[in-house]
Amino acid sequence: MAKVTITIYVNGESYETLVKPSTTLLDFLRDHLFLTGTKKGCNTGECGACTVILDGKVVNACLVLAVDASGSHVTTVEGLGDAEHPHLLQVAFAEHGAIQCGYCTPGMLISSKALLDRNPNPSEAEIKMTLAGNLCRCGGYLKIIEAIKSVVKT
Ligand code: FES
Repeated sequence: MAKVTITIYVNGESYETLVKPSTTLLDFLRDHLFLTGTKKGCNTGECGACTVILDGKVVNACLVLAVDASGSHVTTVEGLGDAEHPHLLQVAFAEHGAIQCGYCTPGMLISSKALLDRNPNPSEAEIKMTLAGNLCRCGGYLKIIEAIKSVVKT
């Protein structure tokens, strides 16, 4: 099948590239842009490892076609911060030991960032609801929730 040209904005950078129509946003991010912070877990919309922000909304990148994201703005975990300038949530996750195997961490960070962007003072129940689509196979939810609570503005 013929490839299609897409233009997409990822973490503030513009990319124009050819993709197969069947390429998911997840595979585009990982295999075309080499932004491998966004993880591939189930690839069926169940685990949340692939969570990104697409035009302000939290989505599972494995369920979005790259062609459908053309013209959109995407934020991945690489867009939150880096080792020199980490996001407050990244610092909090490290300080609270809210990381075990780390596979869910990028998705957890993206979901919690999106939550704090729309509500800087969420309740614990709202934090738990937000993380409902992000599975931690290590079962490390308590420390993750504590880390997020630590950056909530009171
Ligand atoms: Fe997309 Fe699991 S890899 S939800």
